[in-house]
Amino acid sequence: MKKQFLDLGRQPIANGFLNKNDFANEYFFNLKVGFDDETKLVSLMDFVEPTKMFNDEYVYYSSLSKTMREHFLSAAETFKTKLFPQSVLEIGSNDGVFIENFSPDNTCAVEPCGNFADITNKKGYHTYPQFWNLETAEEIVERHGPQDLIFSANCMCHIQDLNEAFTAVKKTLSFDGCFVFEDPSLLQMITRGSYDQIYDEHAHIFSVLALKNLLNNVGLEIFKVEKLDVHGGSNRIYAKHMDTMKLRGIKPAASVQMSLDAEREYGLHKYETYVKFADRVEKSKNDLLSLLQSLKAENKKIVSYGATSKSTTVFNYCGIDNTLIDYIVDTTADKQNKFSPGVHIPVVAPTEFDNTVDCAFLGAWNYKKEILNKEKRFVERGGVFITHVPAVGTY
Ligand code: TYD
Repeated sequence: MKKQFLDLGRQPIANGFLNKNDFANEYFFNLKVGFDDETKLVSLMDFVEPTKMFNDEYVYYSSLSKTMREHFLSAAETFKTKLFPQSVLEIGSNDGVFIENFSPDNTCAVEPCGNFADITNKKGYHTYPQFWNLETAEEIVERHGPQDLIFSANCMCHIQDLNEAFTAVKKTLSFDGCFVFEDPSLLQMITRGSYDQIYDEHAHIFSVLALKNLLNNVGLEIFKVEKLDVHGGSNRIYAKHMDTMKLRGIKPAASVQMSLDAEREYGLHKYETYVKFADRVEKSKNDLLSLLQSLKAENKKIVSYGATSKSTTVFNYCGIDNTLIDYIVDTTADKQNKFSPGVHIPVVAPTEFDNTVDCAFLGAWNYKKEILNKEKRFVERGGVFITHVPAVGTY
C-alpha cells in the first residue's frame, strides 16, 4: 500500500508556461508523494490526467542542450556496436534526438505529443502520435514485427500504469531483444536532496529495487545497470526476457547487485528513510527563502537560469515569485515571452542575462557544467549563482 511521506503543496502543470489571459483558468493539483511498502516504488499519491501534460502544446525539446545531444549520440553508438539491433523502437521520442542516430528504415517511434511526433514523422521516422500502452504495442508488432531494441529515455517514469507499460514492452520485444530505459535515479534524488525531480510528469521516481520487482512481475529481468550523470543523476536499465536469459545462460552483470546493495544500504526499502528526506526538503525551502530574501534586502537583482519543470516545483513549494525573481532566462523559444506555471514569473530570452544581473538561481542545476562554461563572464564580473542542490548555497 502507498503511504504518503511528502507534501509539496498546490502545484500547476510543471511545463505549462502560459500567457496572462490564461492565468484565471490555470489548473492546480496537490503534489504529494508516497512509498509503496510492497513494490518499494515511490510515486505521486494522485496522478494528473496525462493529456493535461502531454499534448500538442508540449514545450520540452531534448535536443536544445549540447549535453543531451552528445549523450544520445553516444548511447546510439554504444547500442549499435554492442547490441546489433536489426529493429529499433523508441518510446517517447520527443524531437528525435536519439532515434535520428539510426536509419529510418528499421525504426519506429511512439510520441504522444502531436507537435513532436510531427517533427520526426516529417524526417521520415514512422512516429505514432499516441501513448504507450497495450493497444499501441499490438499495432507496432502487427506493422513492424517484434523489436530488437526498445529504448526509452525519461518516459517510463511518466507512465502511471507501469504494469501495463512493461507488459506492452514484453509483448513487443524480440526473443533476444533488449529493453533499455533511463530515468532519474531515486537514490541520487534522495542523496542530493533534489526534491524538484518531483512534479506532475514524474509519476514515479525509480529505484532499481522497485524496477526489479515490477519487471520480474511481467517476465523481464534486469541484466545491467549504468549510472548516468544526466538529469541530475539517472540509471540506465538493461532488461531482457527472463526466459531468454535462462535459456541462453545469461547472468546479470555485477552492476545489478551493486545497485541493489547501495540502495538497501541507504534504506530505500524503508519508509523511515523517506520521512527523513521530507525533513530535509523543508529545511531546503527555509534556507532558500532566507538566502533570496537577504540578497533582495541588499538590492541585488536576482533572475533564474533555465525555465525547468524542476523550478516549477521549487518556486511553487517555496512561494518564490516575481517579488524575489525578476525573470527567468531560457533558450526555448516556446517558453519565452510567457509566464512560469503557478507563480507567473516572466520567461525571457537569454539575451536578458546581461550585466544588470547580480545573482542567478540555477533552475537547470543539472546542466551546471554546460552553463558555467557558457557564463564564465558572469562569474568573472562578480555574478553569483545560487543553487539548492545538494544544499542551499552560492558559488
Ligand atoms: P531540464 O533541466 O532538462 O528540465 P526539466 O526540469 O524540465 O526536465 O531543462 C533545461 C531547461 O533549461 C530547458 O528549458 C532549456 C534551458 N537551458 C537554458 O536556457 N540554457 C542552457 O544553457 C541550458 C543547458 C538549458
